[in-house]
Amino acid sequence: MTQPSSAGLPAIRRSDFPADFRWGCSTSSYQIEGAAAEGGRGESIWDRFCETPGHIRDGSSGARACDHYNRWPEDLDIARGLGVNAYRFSIAWPRIFPAGTGARCNETGLAFYDRLVDGMLERGLEPWSTLYHWDLPQALQDRGGWKQRETVDAFLAYTDVVTRRLGDRVKHWITHNEPWCTAFLGHHEGVHAPGQKDYRTALQVCHHLLLSHGRALPLIRGNVPGARAGITLSLHPILPASASAADSAAVSRHDGSRNRWFLDPLYGRGYPADVLELLGDLAPVVHHGDFEAIAAPADFLGVNYYFPEVVADAPGEGPIATRVVALPGTERTAFGWPVSPEGMVDLLLRIQRDWAPREVYLTENGSTYDDLVGPDGSIVDSERRSYLARHLQAARRALDQGVPLKGYFAWSLLDNFEWAEGYLRRFGLTYVDYASQRRTLKASGQWYAGFLAT
Ligand code: FCB
Repeated sequence: MTQPSSAGLPAIRRSDFPADFRWGCSTSSYQIEGAAAEGGRGESIWDRFCETPGHIRDGSSGARACDHYNRWPEDLDIARGLGVNAYRFSIAWPRIFPAGTGARCNETGLAFYDRLVDGMLERGLEPWSTLYHWDLPQALQDRGGWKQRETVDAFLAYTDVVTRRLGDRVKHWITHNEPWCTAFLGHHEGVHAPGQKDYRTALQVCHHLLLSHGRALPLIRGNVPGARAGITLSLHPILPASASAADSAAVSRHDGSRNRWFLDPLYGRGYPADVLELLGDLAPVVHHGDFEAIAAPADFLGVNYYFPEVVADAPGEGPIATRVVALPGTERTAFGWPVSPEGMVDLLLRIQRDWAPREVYLTENGSTYDDLVGPDGSIVDSERRSYLARHLQAARRALDQGVPLKGYFAWSLLDNFEWAEGYLRRFGLTYVDYASQRRTLKASGQWYAGFLAT
């Protein structure tokens, strides 16, 4: 693929967006903090998962990552340098409750996030905190993890402590990041922690994640004056692999399990009947009152948009009987993820039409390419720059068509530990040389800063 030059980028300016638009970048605790054994942090399921050879493609772990736990002032300076006005980060539950729950919380962990949040405020960055970005305390996994309903209570106890402590300064709270990934990558496909492979478990985990979200909302509002709280989902436009009737039926089933399974209960409709029918007795155990709790009104919906999924009918492949296929001729990132800014517009319009959230934030969007460091140390990541510019243009189109889009957070501020891919995938606007921990703003980051300055 030819690299678009800066001149070929779409004309898009910050002033094309409303003045109160949130411009940010996102990170998550396990992916950047490192310092796994510092500050009284307990073991997380990702520490444990990474120990097994074969789980992480380069055999690495987040034990050191970007050493953000120690280098956070420099990282927040980079964010300020970009000109963003918001910063999305996550809190490592095992830093707060090393043993998952109980009477003893870790003051050193709370003090770290105190400093981090103060550092954001000093730099004009509005803190957007995610409570759960996948790093469950291992002690809770030892008792069954998210499969157990008790973990919902443990999450609420953790949420209570954190929101009481930070709620005077942090007003934006995201309960969960991408429950689909936690549930299905972690408990069905087994490629994420805790590495289980059981469909029924994945569905029960999913139910408990949604329940814990809904039950956390009133708690957050009680503890945080002026709180704005919601959840972040990974959502995809779903397209058929062919014009056949079988593939179009596959689209509906796949959409049911990928998108509607989350949005329907969050917006008060319970689980979609067509998917429940396919699941039969695999369906999760739901207690009386759970759906009312899950549907607690949220202030916003967080959408992580990366790519559309093209699906084909696949009889015999699990209860949903679909397979994600790669259409030839599609532009892709180095990860193989299709690039489709238009897909983002379609997705946002569809969400608006079918569920009408009060406010929508793109809480993640970004891409990975094989960044090459030039002889002068610069990283000219033209493809990522183009990806970013084209998706911002798509965000503008969604606004024009009436989507109540209120903000955009680029994934990610820094290259970081990309889960099962280890350090092989770089998503940062900033390059991290892991050996020296030197940070270098890439051309994409420079472009974002230039855009934000218009
Ligand atoms: C999302 C995750 C985030 C990051 C990006 C690339 O699914 O939320 O942590 O790994 O993908």
